[in-house]
Amino acid sequence: MASSSRALAVLGFAAAAALLAAPAIAGDAKKGAVIAKRWCASCHVVSRDQATAVADAPSFYDVAQRRTDRKQLSNFLVDPHPPMPDMHLSRREIDDIVTYIRSLDPRPQPPEEKDKDDEQPRRG
Ligand code: HEC
Repeated sequence: MASSSRALAVLGFAAAAALLAAPAIAGDAKKGAVIAKRWCASCHVVSRDQATAVADAPSFYDVAQRRTDRKQLSNFLVDPHPPMPDMHLSRREIDDIVTYIRSLDPRPQPPEEKDKDDEQPRRG
């Protein structure tokens, strides 16, 4: 008993350490928030403390609920289409923003997908 709870504590610590040392591909939600506030907030509502933005730009909360696929979201940001301007974001910035946007989705997150291209079509 005591030893297994101690093992759990060690595991928990390892997980926290792994999170802190987040690998590049996972993106950094905090950096994403900074970028979003700097580059996206003029048009999008990007955080709870922001009341208004441009009417035809969806809030990032709305985007988070509709765009659940990280890959699609980053593809859009690599090559956005009008009226959304091309912000010339780096790959790293996009990973950070995508991680930030996904973190705004209040629903439980599905496990990270492993490069799966046979995506189920979404209806509705
Ligand atoms: C000049 C205004 C403007 C700025 C700045 C801007 N956007 Fe947009 N964005 C828009 C508009 C308008 C749309 C809606 C496009 C449409 O409906 O086709 C949009 C759409 C999007 C979408 C797709 C949402 C959907 O409906 O699925 C994403 C994601 C997005 N923007 C992310 C960003 C990010 C990230 C930034 C900052 C790096 C940013 N935008 C900066 C105007 C802007």
